[in-house]
Amino acid sequence: MWGLIATWRMSKDGVEKGIETLKRNGSAGEAIEIAIQEVENYPLFKSVGFGGLPNEEMEVELDAAYMDGDTLDVGSIMAIKDFANPISIAKKLSKEKVNCVLVSSGAEKYAQKAGFERKNMLTNRAQAFYNEKKHLIDRNDLKAYDGHDTVGMVCLDNDNKIVSATSTSGLFMKKKGRVGDSPLIGSGFYADSQIGGATATGLGEDLMKGCISYEIVRLMKDGYSPQEACEKAVLDLDYELRTRRKEAGDLSVVAMNCNGEWGAATNISEFSCVVQTEKENLEVYVIKNNNGIIEKIVADEAWTEEYMKNEIGYVDEEKWGK
Ligand code: GLY
Repeated sequence: MWGLIATWRMSKDGVEKGIETLKRNGSAGEAIEIAIQEVENYPLFKSVGFGGLPNEEMEVELDAAYMDGDTLDVGSIMAIKDFANPISIAKKLSKEKVNCVLVSSGAEKYAQKAGFERKNMLTNRAQAFYNEKKHLIDRNDLKAYDGHDTVGMVCLDNDNKIVSATSTSGLFMKKKGRVGDSPLIGSGFYADSQIGGATATGLGEDLMKGCISYEIVRLMKDGYSPQEACEKAVLDLDYELRTRRKEAGDLSVVAMNCNGEWGAATNISEFSCVVQTEKENLEVYVIKNNNGIIEKIVADEAWTEEYMKNEIGYVDEEKWGK
C-alpha cells in the first residue's frame, strides 16, 4: 500500500510528482522530497520556498524538516537564507547522528559545504508585496502574522515506510530569527512507520503548545483512526487555548496511518488538502469546521478558481486545469 497526503491545494502538482515516484516503486523519502521541492520551486506560492514572503527585515528565512518513520531519524533547519530547496537540506541532515538540527548561519554553512544550490529566494513579487503592506504594519492596520500556508506531507511507500516533512517561509513579517512549528519535531511533523504520520499548518506559536503532530500519532497508536485522531487533537487543543488564553490561532492538520487511511481537521472555517493512495484517486478536499463539526468535501471548479485567485492572484487554466 502507498499513499501521500499534503496540506493545502498548492501541493497538488507536487503530490502528482510524488505519486509518480511511488508508482515506480520509489521510496517515501524520495517521493516526499520531490513533492515538496515542486512546491518550493513554484514562485507564486507566498509561504513556501522561492517567492515565500519575507520577515520584517525583508529577508526570506526558511524552515524545513524531514522525519523517517522507520529509524526515527530527524533533520531540521531553521531560518536558513539563500538556498533553493530547504527540504533537501533537512533530508540530508536527518542522516547525521548528531548536529541534525541546525539554525541560520550554521545551517547555511552546512548546506554550502554539502554543495546545495544557492539561490536568492526573494522574488520581485514578494518584495512588492512587502512594500505594499509595510505601511499598513506601521499604521497597525495589518497583523504581522497574516498568512501562513506551510506545506506539510505524510507519505507511505510499498515497503511500509512512513515519512513526514515540512517546508515554509513561516509567517509574513515575522521577527528575524522567529521559528514556528514546522521544523520542530512533534509540533509540525511526526512519523512512526509502525503507526502513521502527521503534519500541521497554521499558527506555529499555538500548534507547538499541543505538540499536535506527535499527539495525533499517539492517538492513532491508542486505536483512533487518522480522522478521529486529527479531529480530537485539533478540537482539544483549540478548546484548551480558548479556555486558558481566550483565543486560539489557526490549527490545521493531516495524517495517514500505516494502512494508507488518512484524516484531516481544522479549527478554521476552511482548509484544504490533497491526497492520493493506492486505493483512492488524487483528490483535493476542502476541510470545513462548522462549530466543531468537521466536514470533508471534494473541491469543485468554482472553489479551485477562487483559491487560485486568492493564493497566486490569477488563474492559469493550462497549469491548473481549470
Ligand atoms: N506553521 C508555520 C509557522 O508558524 O511558521
